[in-house]
Amino acid sequence: MTVSTTLTAIPDVQRIRGLEMPWNRVFQSTPEPAGAARALWPWYPQEFLAECVETVPEAGDMLTIVLRRIDGAPLAFRSGQYLNIAFPVDGPDAEPVNRSYSISSAPTQPWTFAITVKREEGGRVSQWVHENVRPGMVLDMLGPVGAFHLPDMDRRARYLFLAAGAGVTPLMSMIRTIHSLPGRADVVMLYHGAEPGAFAFSRELEHLASVDSRIKVYYSLGDRSVTGTWQGMVGRLTAQMIDEVVPDANGRQVYACGPEGYLDVATDFLSKVGVDDTSIHMESFSGSRATRLEYRDEVAFAGEIAEEIAAAQDEAHEPEPVTAALDLYQIAAGTEAKADDGTAEHYETGDVLAAEPTASAETPAEPSSFETVGQGSLNMSFLRSGLNVRIDPGEEILAAAKQAGIRIGANCQEGMCGSCKIVKLSGDVDMHHQGGIRAREIEAGKFLPCCSTAQTDLVLDA
Ligand code: FES
Repeated sequence: MTVSTTLTAIPDVQRIRGLEMPWNRVFQSTPEPAGAARALWPWYPQEFLAECVETVPEAGDMLTIVLRRIDGAPLAFRSGQYLNIAFPVDGPDAEPVNRSYSISSAPTQPWTFAITVKREEGGRVSQWVHENVRPGMVLDMLGPVGAFHLPDMDRRARYLFLAAGAGVTPLMSMIRTIHSLPGRADVVMLYHGAEPGAFAFSRELEHLASVDSRIKVYYSLGDRSVTGTWQGMVGRLTAQMIDEVVPDANGRQVYACGPEGYLDVATDFLSKVGVDDTSIHMESFSGSRATRLEYRDEVAFAGEIAEEIAAAQDEAHEPEPVTAALDLYQIAAGTEAKADDGTAEHYETGDVLAAEPTASAETPAEPSSFETVGQGSLNMSFLRSGLNVRIDPGEEILAAAKQAGIRIGANCQEGMCGSCKIVKLSGDVDMHHQGGIRAREIEAGKFLPCCSTAQTDLVLDA
């Protein structure tokens, strides 16, 4: 008997054109406003409780926390979005500390979801998370929010992902999502890290690149000296490096996440290799204008009929009332983003060092005795700072306060992360937040000065 040793060629994978998220069909099948709102509901920022079911240490001093909703519902989100989480850092009876973290898992596996937190030296919340969050712990969440996400439908689906340090988190969600879906795609990830052992998810990324011909991953060590047998690229992000990994950068949708300095140079170099502004989506810049407008319109539309839906559905997890259309998405590179050299080892989504505002004010003196600075028809009295700041209606409170030298911790500056939250003791503000504050906090007199303007004179605990 003759045994043939000729291998039969494996035919190329046949794929449908482009990439389509599973929920896109639901959107398309619901032309009526009420139907569309029902379909959109899961993406509407909601407040819910989730239980930690697993913690997984990652390279680069990062920790993945796998969660599931305690109401048993799946978490509907778009790949790249994030959650605002209340951490009981000072104990169960104290005011929790809110921080925003990108979801690192794929929405195509919605029954559990994950955030990945980098431990920051001196970072109050990230340290606490690493040391205290364990299976069984239940955390209060708000979200999902964010316009930095993959589109629901992309006929071309050609992407360049630029990640620096912990900025890989939302991009990891995107790459996992693309791998889990059928459809033509062409994804190149260029991932900068500080040292060979600091690339989180690298084993999984290598696996995905080896089994999915649509995915390619390149690593670069920034400008650090190379140790051991490093075989990846070396050097900061340059136009030449982008050109090397994606000679066809023009025409790709670029998603970049990392510290501000890294994103600044990326913007520069991307234009040099022919990538149009409208194709660039950045986590600290909230995505392209088109994406922002699309997202704002989408949620504004849902907001119009949210009450009708809420009345019609007596669900256990009601959507958080949204007082304004979601506008843009921004997780700033963070005040801990010390590295502006493109290596991003200190990048963290929202772990701010600034002091957390508290509800109790120790009145140092009468506002009438404070020094007054600035100009404007209204007066803001900052009790802790002992300063009166003049402001005009329509002028943003955080900006005016900062200009006057008042320290208020702020991260996103878009009403999303909650880090600038302070207490208003009297007066009215017009707030256009984007999920960074809970309804009960507003009732308790708190507000986000980064997205608020003064309507009357104000007395503030800051
Ligand atoms: S700075 Fe993020 S909500 Fe104000």
